[in-house]
This record gives sequence, structure tokens and C-alpha cells, in this order.
Amino acid sequence: MKQKIFITTPIYYVNARPHIGHAYTTIACDTWARYQRLAGREVFFLTGTDEHGDKIVKAAAAEGKTPAEYCDTISGEFRTAWQKLGLTPDDFIRTTEDRHKRVVQQILQKIYDAGDIYAGEYTGNYCFGCERYLTDKELNDKGECVIHLKKPEVISEKNYFFRMQKYLPLWKAQLLQNRSLVSPEGYCNEVLGTIDELIKNGEDLSISRPKTRLEWGIELPFDKEYVTYVWFDALINYVSATSYGNPQQFDAWWATAHHMIAKDILKPHGVYWPTMLMAAGIPVFKRLVVHGYWLGFADQKMSKSLGNAKDPLELAAKIGNDALRFFLMREMNFGSDARFSEEIMVNRLNANLANDLGNLVQRTLSMLKKYECGPNPQTAPHTSAAHIDASLKTLKADYLRTFDNFEFQYAIEAVFVVIRSLNKIVDDYKPWSLAKENMTECTALLNTLVRAIAVVLLYLRPVLPEKTAEYLTLLKVTSQQEFPETLAEVAFAEQKLDAWPMLFQRMETV
Ligand code: MSP
Repeated sequence: MKQKIFITTPIYYVNARPHIGHAYTTIACDTWARYQRLAGREVFFLTGTDEHGDKIVKAAAAEGKTPAEYCDTISGEFRTAWQKLGLTPDDFIRTTEDRHKRVVQQILQKIYDAGDIYAGEYTGNYCFGCERYLTDKELNDKGECVIHLKKPEVISEKNYFFRMQKYLPLWKAQLLQNRSLVSPEGYCNEVLGTIDELIKNGEDLSISRPKTRLEWGIELPFDKEYVTYVWFDALINYVSATSYGNPQQFDAWWATAHHMIAKDILKPHGVYWPTMLMAAGIPVFKRLVVHGYWLGFADQKMSKSLGNAKDPLELAAKIGNDALRFFLMREMNFGSDARFSEEIMVNRLNANLANDLGNLVQRTLSMLKKYECGPNPQTAPHTSAAHIDASLKTLKADYLRTFDNFEFQYAIEAVFVVIRSLNKIVDDYKPWSLAKENMTECTALLNTLVRAIAVVLLYLRPVLPEKTAEYLTLLKVTSQQEFPETLAEVAFAEQKLDAWPMLFQRMETV
């Protein structure tokens, strides 16, 4: 039986059309999912849209639509965007679907029956952008939300509360025992700090909104005058999409749950969600992995509200799905913020894809054609093959370790270390000179290089799925191993290559 892996993106609010920030997380999960499938695991990759709450009602009204119509449109845009970008989610959940509403009500009732939900009065600073009450620490010196740069509204209302305080010390103890539950490490510390702060102020979590103020939500099963607070509703998507209520399906997938998010939603995921799970009698997720922000002009977080976010489909139409994906995965150090600009993008793509990889492939294939010596798998390996094999062994170990740990930039860089060493072999052995002096060695060298190119293409599949598929087909490559650690593990067919598409074009602008 294959090992199971469950990976989720946040479910995106439908008040904004998909932008680069959303694309990054979804592409990162897709890259990881593809890697895990190739590594022999059975993957369930979940994404979707978060459709309830004030924010959505306002956005729908601004476009003159009912919330339901509006959600259908924008949710559809997310779904289409992921298809166009070539992403492979196994399921797409919408919080307006019955399968989700049913589970939210079931879990609410369960927690209510256990006495962990009670009625009370609440006054606080509510940020409509965050869809939650903010603490003073979350305001800047102008009293604005640090994420949305808008003053929160002071709101007072009767609400239902979840006894989060009861579970905070339990969650803290669990996290201290296993810090890898939240990573990279800095974010685990941040969660621990937030838990302490919440324990100190003693507040529970408001989980309802009166229908007099908001109707667009999931009705509380124990009070028809209220709907569920959008975060309490949204977080449950991760279990409602996983056949909660059907233990045969649910247990095995849930035990491997990996949630990927950016740091903007660390508090709901790192604090609310685990305490909710504990109250519902569901084990806490296996891992919460957190990345930083893509920063646009003036190093501001790219977002709809700041109007500085790029359209991923527009970019992909210009440079291709793979190039966009490569840039995002290689440029950001997972966990830290990264700058997004045309110049950074052009430099990265030219350096890695056009120069390192493109050059290696282009010159190797051109020489094979020019000297009419392959691809031919029958040729004896070149003397450089032993050195290449040694580097492949290191590659495999580094690649598997860093990929498993969501260090996309290091996994990709490990492949490029090999690609650059192959270019150096070409420069050092000069096949164009060998072609005049020693055709046997020239043939051995070029065919060893084709074999090595096949290997690096196999390793680049999760991050360049379209181009690698095209080239692996072109070169008629087969492999005994998904991630070979010797040149001998790959095979390719003998053929005369006549023409081939350019792998990556150098570019001046995007
Ligand atoms: N609906 C909630 C999530 C509920 S999950 C149970 C939400 N939606 S959102 O549309 O605002 O998406 C936030 C997520 O989008 C971030 O956590 C991140 O995954 C992605 N990003 C949005 N802007 C981003 C950047 N500028 N940089 C990096 N990621 C970004 O919050």
C-alpha cells in the first residue's frame, strides 16, 4: 500500500480575483504534490474557495450581484485559473456546498453538546479585511490593521463563544513536545507567543454573527438567529472535504494532513484550528507550513486591497506556465518574504532557464546532430561519468530531504548544481575539439551528457512539468527510478534528432 499524503492550500476569499499571491501557494502545493506522487506516495491535494462573511456580501453588492451569483463567478475564476496554470488539485471545495455546511453544523453541535460553546457579549475592534477582531498589538501606530492599513470598526454584540481557553494550554504542551507541527521554526515560536498572549488576556473565540448584521453564512444548529463566524466555518473545509464522518476514508488521510499558508493567516491556523480540532475530538494536523509574502512596489505585501498584485494568467500567457512556476518556486526562500519585480524575474529566468539549463540542452543536442553521433544509448560512458554519478548521489539525498521539508529553493538549486557541473564538463572537454581529434571520445561524451540531461529533467518534473514532459518524450527517455542516482538507471532510444523546440528563450522584458 502506498503511503498517503494530504496537502491543502488555504481556501481563498472570493472577494478578489486570483493573483500572484494565491498562485504562489497553489503552485507550491502542486509542486509538492507532484514531487510526492513521483516519490511513490498517494496524494490528496485540496484547494477551494471561502465564500461566506461580510466581505463577500460587500464585494457582491459592489458588482450588483447576489452573494450566490457572485461566488459562483469568482470561485469559477479560481478553478479556471488553476486549470490554465496546469495545476492538479484532486478536489476543489466551496464553503457554500452542502457537503461542507453539513460538517460545520455537525462539529458545532458536537462542541456545543460538550459544553464548549456558550453565549456572551462581545465588544472589540473588528477588521473586515481579516474577518476577525484584532488585538491592540495587531494595530499600527495610527490604529490601523497592520495588514489592510484600515482602521477597524468598534463592534458590540451578543455572540456565541468557543471555550478556546480550555484548549490553549493543551495545544501549547503538544507544540512544545513537537515543534515540527508548525514550521519553519520562527513561526512555531510566533504561535507559542500568541498562545501565551491569549492565555494572558483570557478571552475565548467568538464564533457567531447575528443574522441581523450578516445573513450570508452557515446557520448555527442550536440558534437560528445566528450564522457561523467565517473563520470557524472556513477552517472546517479541511475536514469536510476529507469525508469527515466516514472514518474508513477520513482517518488515513487526516493523519497525514499538511496545511500550507502564508504568515497572514498564522493565528487562525496555528491557534484557532488546533484548539477547534481538540474540542471536536479530531487529532491535530500533522504539519502547518508557513511561507512569507511576495512584496511588490515599495516592499508592500502584494494584495488586492493595496492594488499592487499581478495577474498570474497574464504573466503565464507571456512567459509560459513553467517559467512562472520556476520563478516563484526558486526565487522565494520558503518562510521568508521575497521581492517581485520584472527585473528580478527576467534575471532569474535568463540565468537559470535560458543559460544554465537551456544552454546545456541546446549545445548538447546541436553537437549530437552536427557530428551525427547520437543520441545513441549503446555508446560506452565517457570518463566524466564517474564524476557525474557521484554528484547524482548527492543530488538525490539533498533533493529528497529538502523537498520533504518544503525547501523548494534548495531542492531546485541542488539540481542546478549538477546542471552547472555538466556545463563545466562541456567547457573542459570541448566536444567541438574532440570531434576533430577523437571522435570516439566525442561520441562518448555527448551521449553521457544526453543521459545526464535526462536525469536532471526527471528531477525537474515537479517544477517544470510541461517542458520536462515535452523533452523526455522527445528524447524517448525511460528510467528504472523516478529519481535516478546513476546514469545507468536511465535509458533513451537511439534516434536521429532533426529539430526540437527551444527549451527556454532568453528575454529582455516580461
Ligand atoms: N479565506 C482565508 C483563508 C481561509 S483557510 C481556511 C484567506 N483567504 S485569502 O484569499 O486572503 O488568501 C490568503 C492566502 O493567499 C495567503 O495565506 C497566501 O497563501 C496567499 N497570498 C495572498 N497574498 C500573498 C502574498 N502577497 N504573498 C504570499 N502569499 C499570498 O485568508
